Parts: sequence; C-alpha cells; structure tokens
Amino acid sequence: MSKLTQLNHPLIFHKMALIRDKNTGAKDFRELVEEVSMLMAYEVTRDLQTEYVEIETPICKTKHRVLSGKKLAIVPILRAGLGMVDGMLKLIPAAKVGHIGLYRDEETLKPVEYFCKLPQDIAERDIMVVDPMLATGGSAADALTLLKEKGAKNLRLVCLISAPEGIKYVQEAHPDVDIYVGAIDEKLNEHGYIVPGLGDAGDRLFGTK
Ligand code: PRP
Ligand code: URA
Repeated sequence: MSKLTQLNHPLIFHKMALIRDKNTGAKDFRELVEEVSMLMAYEVTRDLQTEYVEIETPICKTKHRVLSGKKLAIVPILRAGLGMVDGMLKLIPAAKVGHIGLYRDEETLKPVEYFCKLPQDIAERDIMVVDPMLATGGSAADALTLLKEKGAKNLRLVCLISAPEGIKYVQEAHPDVDIYVGAIDEKLNEHGYIVPGLGDAGDRLFGTK
C-alpha cells in the first residue's frame, strides 16, 4: 500500500483556512495556492537522494551534499493543477513540467482526457503529479495511469485538499504511488464536491464563475 502523508505545519493550516474562505478572491486565492504548494514541495522532496561533491568556498575546498539521482518532473492536471506549478518550481527550478488535461464530466463525474504533453525523457524522471483537489480520485488515478502508459515509473501525487473516498480510490488503483495532502476532509457531497473543501478549484483560480 502506498504511503499517505498529511502535511502538518502551522503555516499550511493558516493558509488553508484563507484558501477555503469563500470571500477570498481570485488574486489572493492564486497567491495562497502558490505559497502552500511551495511549502508542500519542501516536504515532498524530503527523501530525494543526495551525494557529496567538492566545492570551493572563498576560504577552502570542502565536500558538500547536493541533489543526485534522477531528474524531476512536475505534472499538473489541468486546469487547477496549474496553480501549484510556480510554487513548486520556486524550490525545484530545474524540474521539467508536463501537462495532462482532464475535466470531470458533471453528470458521470468521470474524467475526460483532452491534452497530454510530457517531457520526452519522462520515464527517467521522478514525477510529482499535482492537483489541488482529490475528490472521487478519478482524475488523479487516470493521470497516473496515463503517465505509466508513457513509461513513468517513479510517481507521487500532491494535493491540497483530499476526500477519504479519493485517497482510497487512488491507493487501490496505484498502490505504488505515495500521496501527499495538505488536508483530509470529511466526505464528498451528492455532486462529488469535497466537504467542507474550497468549492471549484479551477473556477476560483481562474475566476470562471
Ligand atoms: C477538478 C480538480 C481535479 C478533479 C478532482 O478539476 O482540479 O482535477 O476535479 O475530482 P475527482 O477526484 O473527482 O476526479 P475539474 O474537472 O473541475 O477541471 P478544472 O481543473 O479544469 O476546473
Ligand atoms: N473539483 C473541485 O474543484 N472541487 C471539489 O470539491 C471536487 C472536485
């Protein structure tokens, strides 16, 4: 079974309260999603491999730890995943960015794919799939399946807010993928929205409602 990590940091708690608030407008919402994503990137990258290299300070030569191992990729699930990319890139600027376009059909709640563009060496990268919302889990599970079909092997999923139903669905479909979430909410409502959640992440990010 995959590892589930719920981030547990006062700054994340505080910013998530502001993100959830229905009176937070698109500009502040975008900035807060970026800030929380940057804080999450710190935790999600905690187990990256390092190696010692020789560097020279103005005083002397010394050995120092730097990142080693495979290269990284961030893959947002469009649209709302886009809101998490810049925050993560602030900490890991050398990561490549792929895009997967999925929307959830409002009737069936099933994801529909409309776009996929990935770094050509995706199979060799450690991949962070990002999406603010993990509701039924259908979109995240399909994005992970698509990435595996393209050769991806080392995947983790990073979401701001999750529902227990979505966590279970993704863990059963992809037991090899570790999941990082900023919050685990109570449930889904009859329309498949997370309760209490934050509403429609894409609409709030881009002001489309
Ligand atoms: C939202 C969200 C996830 C998906 C979660 O996207 O950003 O991708 O719903 O729901 P699920 O876990 O039940 O699949 P949406 O389909 O609304 O598209 P958008 O990002 O373009 O608004
Ligand atoms: N997608 C969203 O944007 N919000 C939810 O609560 C569920 C799916």
